[in-house]
Parts: sequence; structure tokens; C-alpha cells
Amino acid sequence: MTANPANLTIREPDDWHLHLRDDAMLALAADITARQFARAIVMPNLVPPVTTVDAAEAYRDRILAALPPGRRFTPLMTAYLTDEIDPDEIATGFTKGVFTACKLYPAGATTNSSAGVTDVRKIGPVLERMQTIGMPLLLHGEVTSSDIDIFDREAAFLETVLAPMLSDFPALKVVLEHITTTDSVQFVQDAGPTLAATITAHHLRIDRNALFEGGLRPHAYCLPVAKRRHHRTALRQAAVSGNPKFFLGTDSAPHQKQDKESACGCAGIFSAPVALESYALTFDEEGALDKLEAFASEFGPRFYELPFNEGTITLHRETQTVPETVTQGDVSVVPFHAGETLAWRAGERTDDVQMSQARA
Ligand code: NCD
Ligand code: ZN
Repeated sequence: MTANPANLTIREPDDWHLHLRDDAMLALAADITARQFARAIVMPNLVPPVTTVDAAEAYRDRILAALPPGRRFTPLMTAYLTDEIDPDEIATGFTKGVFTACKLYPAGATTNSSAGVTDVRKIGPVLERMQTIGMPLLLHGEVTSSDIDIFDREAAFLETVLAPMLSDFPALKVVLEHITTTDSVQFVQDAGPTLAATITAHHLRIDRNALFEGGLRPHAYCLPVAKRRHHRTALRQAAVSGNPKFFLGTDSAPHQKQDKESACGCAGIFSAPVALESYALTFDEEGALDKLEAFASEFGPRFYELPFNEGTITLHRETQTVPETVTQGDVSVVPFHAGETLAWRAGERTDDVQMSQARA
């Protein structure tokens, strides 16, 4: 990493939790992420969900076809776990290099999760197989019972699902995704090296007040929902701590503007257009810009046992005003930080040759 008062150049980052969707939304979203990130773990919550090797290969092809010619970007595909999923299908996909990981959505927890797992005890043989072959499990860590307050569902998941799972499958690699609470930070810190967590850009910046600031704010609504201020403080401390168990995953989740601004608005924040800038703002405020590169570009590949990217990206300390909407054809999405002026602007990713020159 090289830093000066104006710029910050870091190794190319990866996004370890991303929603790209399909069709017109994919056409809008794919290159917006690929401009900043070399690889991304792509969520499988399409309709229908990505549950087979064939479906994942076809989706990967659609993502690559949605990128402009010459854009270097590797989508890392995931399998959507259901009660009926076949362990052989998962293992075949992993061995072939199609699936990087499996995603567990508790049924009903979030957008397009109705086909998810109703009880983790039903997928014991799948978890067993994943543990044996070294395939990571990615968790949407919220219980779904309507008896449990929505702000408590992540904490309840730690006790009732995650702790027993880690003791039943002690060698299974698990990523607790988009953590939002002090409880999760503590749990991940205290657990063994098989457990890591991703932290979104938005959970580092908003707390639950953002949902109600002067009125109902659908563009601040995502799942897991933002919690109280002190939880956000704990997330910020974890992100800048230099602990390799915490790494970048935006959970950028675009929905059409009208589907968010609705009587029953969709959950999801579209942070991809300014993801790196948003993380940089937070790290800068925490006096920890020197920790951004490891969080964004090193701890993720280290956990997934993948090589580091060789290129770089430079964050310029230059103001930019984030558009109110990002529009392509009939699709219009309100991005995170819409209308705000940010103090950072990410440049283009450079390839390995320039990296070695930059580092020489
Ligand atoms: C995601 C989506 O829209 O697909 N929504 C969200 O609020 N994060 C699903 C998810 O990751 O929970
Ligand atoms: Zn997500």
C-alpha cells in the first residue's frame, strides 16, 4: 500500500457478498461492481434460486456476457441450499470449480428466501460433506420466528443455530455474512479460525435511526436491518481492527426504485456504485486508512484460500456527488449515499503490469 495526502493505492479488492440479479438489472449492476472489484461472491437468490451446477454455470455466463469487452472480473458462484439439496450436486460443483461456497438462507429470512432451509438439521449430510471437502458455508444469520423481535434475530441466531452448528461441524468453514451487532462481533472474535464475518459499507455508516429520519426512509432498509448506534460502533472497530476474521462484503442488493418506495418496500441497499469510497470514508474517519487494504483485498482471499489479486486501484481524495438514481433502460435504482458529496473517488483498476511498476 502507498499513501499520500491525496491518494491511497491498494491491491485490487474483492466483494465477498454481492447480489447481481438477472436480465435488465444484471445489465445495470454487473459492470458497476466490476469497475472496483476483481472478484465477487455472487449470491444465488434468483427466482428460481441457483441450486444446480448447470444453473450456476449458466448464471456465470450471463454475468460475464453483461460485462463490457476486456473487463477482468471473476464471479465466484454459490449454491443456494434448500431442504432437499443433494450433497453430490454440491460436491460436484465445488470439485469442478463452479461453486465456491454454499449459501444458507433460513426460509423466509430475506428477499427470495422462501425456498431456503426450514431447519438446519435437515441439511446435516450436506454440511458434513462440505466440511469434508473444505467448502465454505455462507450464512444469512437471522432466525425467522415472528415471535422474535426483528432487531434481535441476529443475536438469537448465534445462540440457537450457529453455536450448535460450530460444535457439530468443528472443521466447517463458515462466513457469518453482513454482521450488524456487537454480539456477532464478539462471537466471531471468540470463535476458532473456521469462522469469519463480512461487514457491509452501509452498516458501518447507518444505524436504525436512518430508517426514520424525518419520515420513513425505504432506501436505508436492508436485512439484517441496521441496529442501534453502539452496534455500529462495534462494527467499525472490528472492521479497522486488523483482525483477519473481518473482511469486506458489500451485500449490494439493487431493487427498482419503485419496489423500494412502496407500501411493502423491498430490503436491500445498492452500494456498489460507491462501495470502495464509502468504506474509505469510514476508515478515514477512524484514522485507519492503512487498514483498508487488508480488509478489502487480503483477509477475504486468505480465508477462502484464493490468491491475492495482482492489480491495484487508487482512491483519490477528490469530491464526487453521488447521483440520485442510477438508470439504464427501464431500470432505475437509488444508490447508497444518493445525492451526497463524498470526499473520495475510486479510479480505474489497473492490471498487474502497472502494479509491479507502482510497487517498484
Ligand atoms: C438482499 C436482496 O435483496 O437480495 N437484501 C438485503 O436487504 N440484504 C438479500 C439479503 O442478503 O438478505
Ligand atoms: Zn445479501
